[in-house]
Amino acid sequence: MEKLQAIRGMNDILPEQSLTWQYLESIFQKVVAGYGYQEIRFPVLEQTQLFKRSIGEVTDIVEKEMYTFDDRNGDSLSLRPEGTAVCVRAADQHGLLYNQQQRLWYHGPMFRHERPQKGRYRQFHQFGVEAFGMAGPDIDAEIIELSKELWRQLGLTDYLTLEINNIGSAADRKTYAAALSAFLETRKESLDEDAIRRMHTNPMRVLDSKNPTVQQVLAGAPQLSAYVGEESHEHYQKLTSLLDVLGIAYKENGRLVRGLDYYNNCVFEWTTDILGAQSAVCGGGRYDGLVEQLGGKPTVAAGFAIGEERIVLMLDELNKVPAQALRPIDIYVVVSTQNLSAQGLELATEIRKSHPSLGVLCHCGGGKPASQMKRAFASGAQLAIILEETDSASTQLKLRMLDDSNRSEIIDVDQIGSKLEEFIVISR
Ligand code: HAM
Repeated sequence: MEKLQAIRGMNDILPEQSLTWQYLESIFQKVVAGYGYQEIRFPVLEQTQLFKRSIGEVTDIVEKEMYTFDDRNGDSLSLRPEGTAVCVRAADQHGLLYNQQQRLWYHGPMFRHERPQKGRYRQFHQFGVEAFGMAGPDIDAEIIELSKELWRQLGLTDYLTLEINNIGSAADRKTYAAALSAFLETRKESLDEDAIRRMHTNPMRVLDSKNPTVQQVLAGAPQLSAYVGEESHEHYQKLTSLLDVLGIAYKENGRLVRGLDYYNNCVFEWTTDILGAQSAVCGGGRYDGLVEQLGGKPTVAAGFAIGEERIVLMLDELNKVPAQALRPIDIYVVVSTQNLSAQGLELATEIRKSHPSLGVLCHCGGGKPASQMKRAFASGAQLAIILEETDSASTQLKLRMLDDSNRSEIIDVDQIGSKLEEFIVISR
């Protein structure tokens, strides 16, 4: 019978890979905890309307990429393509926003029907932070600094560039959109179908066009920066001086507008040149109008999300995951005769109790000592402990390093506690 396969663009993460994921997630959780962010979990499925009203009707995500279907009641639902809108919905629904400050984080799968390629998938994972109730720019600087700290702890600082831009207030962008739309109208004959359609509905999305002819037209178009008002300028300038004080280097990129409609003032992205076309590993910015836009009381906000797959690719490519994190277990217990299996299980339990940071795998299911040793070598453990019967029918332990050193020693059972530390690295 034909075997069923996973859906294109949706990946299984196998045991060996999940060690890297666990490592990344543990560092992320440690970093956000250090800044006082608290976790929020929300569903993967939401009303389609939520994303239309937040990300924007005329965006690639909403127009082309959402997994949308009618459920059995005929309600239109969508798999979440991102976390910000859902975070706002959840936090507001449970009264966490009005007149309060919140620093929240989340992680989990997101879904976008894009064309899969390296670093771009249909189910992918984001790690995000959202901060509510702080007008900034101090909070903007804080979240950027937090992301930088994450790169530092992951050893990725040298491979990432921070790009920032000031996209102005919603009102600034409205004025700009009208000017851009009027300009595009005069060049209509050089535009493609997509650009013509967006020209009036959401002219700023025309800026994302991949069509070289459209890009040529855009070279002469009005620039957003000329429409950004005084207040946004001031906010942005304060942010850049905070970044200077914090020693965070940035590149100003006037073309960075982001693919979601809810942003205002400063937006940013961390990019790398080691991943090919999918160069953005983290994106975010302020979205002061979104809570109100979704029916809540006005609440200012800022946040970002990181694409976990892209960070995993970087960690793998650059060999940045410490060997310890990639070791599924530390000790493999071999029982040379089946009479000793109870003792083997007991010994493993004792070591787990006395050294909670160690992973101990006790061989189960029988088999000759030689084949058990093969498994021990294949397991990735540092050390094998082989239970052997002595001539006088008592039990002795043979400690055998599983690296190239071939180091080994025979000890009494009660010596194990002190000997372990001589042989292996205990801390994980
Ligand atoms: P975004 O730029 O759409 O922003 O996504 C954030 C990150 O998710 C991207 O930089 C990228 O690393 C990753 N990503 C996006 N699409 C894919 C994909 N198809 N495959 C793999 N990785 C992908 C947002 O989603 C906003 N909600 C970020 C935010 C939070 N803004 C404020 N708060």
